[in-house]
Amino acid sequence: MIIAVDGPAASGKGTIARALARHYGVPHLDTGLLYRAVAAQVLRLDLDPAIEADAVAACDFDDTLLADPGLRDDATGQIASIVSAHPLVRAALMQRQKKFAHQPGGAVLDGRDIGTVIAPDADAKLFVRATPMIRARRRHDELKSRGSAISYDQVLADIRTRDDRDSSRSTAPLVAAEDAMELDTSFLSIDAAVSRAIALVEGRTAG
Ligand code: CDP
Ligand code: CDP
Repeated sequence: MIIAVDGPAASGKGTIARALARHYGVPHLDTGLLYRAVAAQVLRLDLDPAIEADAVAACDFDDTLLADPGLRDDATGQIASIVSAHPLVRAALMQRQKKFAHQPGGAVLDGRDIGTVIAPDADAKLFVRATPMIRARRRHDELKSRGSAISYDQVLADIRTRDDRDSSRSTAPLVAAEDAMELDTSFLSIDAAVSRAIALVEGRTAG
């Protein structure tokens, strides 16, 4: 069983994807981390994220980088959204994601284009939403608890910039697949959001 979980920044898709993977006993891939790793390499090598050839050169990262907590920084997320708009960057990371999705036994992946590009054949697709202000509040709390001094207003502005960039790019834009089930987590606790997600997946895959 393949489950695709897509949605904008801090909508709760990662939390839901991890819980679904645990529930069904299948592996999970946070695909945003791959783009964040490219961004971290761009920074480390002093490359220009806006130049496609630079961003492609940064795709050759060591997998140990994926465990670096620095990947979760707000600035890394911004650069990830710049590099991820390049078609050649998306192409360089595609095979790995498709292979993960289609491994024997199934998988859960979360990102922006899982239901549309990586696994259009997924058995269940969720598109997770929440209002920008609620997402900014969640992400701000998260960053603050990790010692960041970034302001709520800055996090909200960055989320809006990233939403716009991710939704308007021509290759694999952030958009719900036609057959995706919408889940708005704005006013749901984590437990309620996870229960709802499991119920939606059950409804789609039962029988
Ligand atoms: O966790 P959050 O939603 O803030 O971000 P993320 O999932 O780690 O993704 C960081 C950036 O990578 C996004 O803003 C997208 O530009 C890009 N991304 C993408 O283009 N396609 C994916 N499947 C996953 C992430
Ligand atoms: O993966 P994505 O960026 O979409 O979001 P996440 O990492 O799953 O969630 C972002 C933050 O919001 C985390 O700190 C979650 O614990 C929190 N969250 C929440 O408060 N309520 C929810 N219904 C879902 C997530």
